Amino acid sequence: MTPPRKLHIKSYGCQMNVYDAQRMVDTLGAEGFVETADAGDADLVILNTCHIREKASEKVYSELGRLRVAKEEAAKAGRAMQIAVAGCVAQAEGAEIIARAPTVDVVVGPQSYHHLPQLLSQASRGERAIETEFPAEDKFGFLAKPSREAIRARGVSAFVTVQEGCDKFCTFCVVPYTRGAEMSRPVARIVDDVMQLTESGVREITLIGQNVNAYHGDGPDGRAWTLGRLLYRIAEIPGVARIRYSTSHPNDVDDDLIAAHRDLRAVMPFVHLPVQSGSDRILDLMNRRHGAADYRRVVDRFRSVRPDIAFSSDFIVGFPGETEEDFRATLALIDQIGYAAAYSFKYSPRPGTPAADMQEMVSATEMDERLERLQSLIDSQQAAFNRSAIGTVVDVLFERAARKPGQLVGRTAYLQPAHVMASEDIIGQVLPVRIDSLERYSLLGELVTTPAARPDVASLMSIGG
Ligand code: SAH
Ligand code: SF4
Ligand code: F3S
Repeated sequence: MTPPRKLHIKSYGCQMNVYDAQRMVDTLGAEGFVETADAGDADLVILNTCHIREKASEKVYSELGRLRVAKEEAAKAGRAMQIAVAGCVAQAEGAEIIARAPTVDVVVGPQSYHHLPQLLSQASRGERAIETEFPAEDKFGFLAKPSREAIRARGVSAFVTVQEGCDKFCTFCVVPYTRGAEMSRPVARIVDDVMQLTESGVREITLIGQNVNAYHGDGPDGRAWTLGRLLYRIAEIPGVARIRYSTSHPNDVDDDLIAAHRDLRAVMPFVHLPVQSGSDRILDLMNRRHGAADYRRVVDRFRSVRPDIAFSSDFIVGFPGETEEDFRATLALIDQIGYAAAYSFKYSPRPGTPAADMQEMVSATEMDERLERLQSLIDSQQAAFNRSAIGTVVDVLFERAARKPGQLVGRTAYLQPAHVMASEDIIGQVLPVRIDSLERYSLLGELVTTPAARPDVASLMSIGG
């Protein structure tokens, strides 16, 4: 028997890339590859790249520089190393990568991962391979499923891609070009995947998509199902304790989704709902197709059915033409909503997007200054939100042993890490924890043993408020 070949994969960017990386590992596992943490030791290195901002895509070329050296050293030792570039940079700049980086053997776009084995064997014959078409068939039907061992090793929380691509064309964003048109996987396939995960011990499912609440997959009744309907179906699967979904667009929040939050305990009261800006003028230039007031109404709809719900968001500062007044409107919106967390970015012009042609650039110093102001506001909201958990009892899904001996770490409904001293046999369980203190972003507490101390509605509301 030939020894297994070693695969090292490095992912950048969003959750879709994390999920895709796992499916590539599963698919290449069926071809005899095992994963290694050491790129230098690998027979195949895959860079699973992100194109969203300039910094993200520049990383690829510096990483390729390092890999070229590793590949030369492997060759000196008589070992062939293959290098593949996958992900959104591969899609956007595939031909340029082939031209600029002779060390790269394979370039493969996000919709073609099921063709990886054949692209790699083409490269082994000495022909560098590139595939960045959007094939007619859906890759998910062809990618191998994870083994029981792989699922166990990945832990109690798992991502499942339900939707991919985007038709929104926000003027700053590359995703509609790198991931292609919106497509939704059929309900039955998603249910199969979730069942396979829960049978191997997964307790929390995060349904993911670039625009997940635009989901409209074929249901078993032959009609297109909404994300809300899908959530009801997933909640029926034995073993599913918690369901999350990400990332949502404010314009695609419908009655079904709100009803799912109202009716289903398993659906976590924490929603990532990016708004990007609080200025109607900038939102219009971004082609977001909603204003700040529309966004506030969407948030209110969620809150009317789940007073304990919390939100996170993404923000861009320094979009072309953003004035101090526009920026203040963003701060005002943040004040009005009150976030539990948020990601914020300096605008980065992306080749091929409409905003890249907009002239009125905000200066680098202004961008830095705005980012700092925005982040300090978010930090203070996040700190207040975390502090409000102290003294309350919250449900925690236990994930793994913490660094400190005897300590376990889990997550609250709001994804806050929570640490307790407890034995490892509670991993995978959701148990009430009394929160005693806060250490940076982590909650510290103790398991509550008496069932009477489970959180009542009032304490849940105090966490959300
Ligand atoms: N589909 C999601 C997010 C996709 S990208 C949505 O609709 O919001 C993740 C985040 O990256 C975006 O929410 C945005 O805040 C940020 N982003 C995207 N393009 C960017 C750019 N050109 N410059 C800076 N940030 C950007
Ligand atoms: Fe990009 Fe806008 Fe689509 Fe989000 S909704 S992926 S920001 S184009
Ligand atoms: Fe990046 Fe592509 Fe995700 S550009 S954020 S890896 S969809």
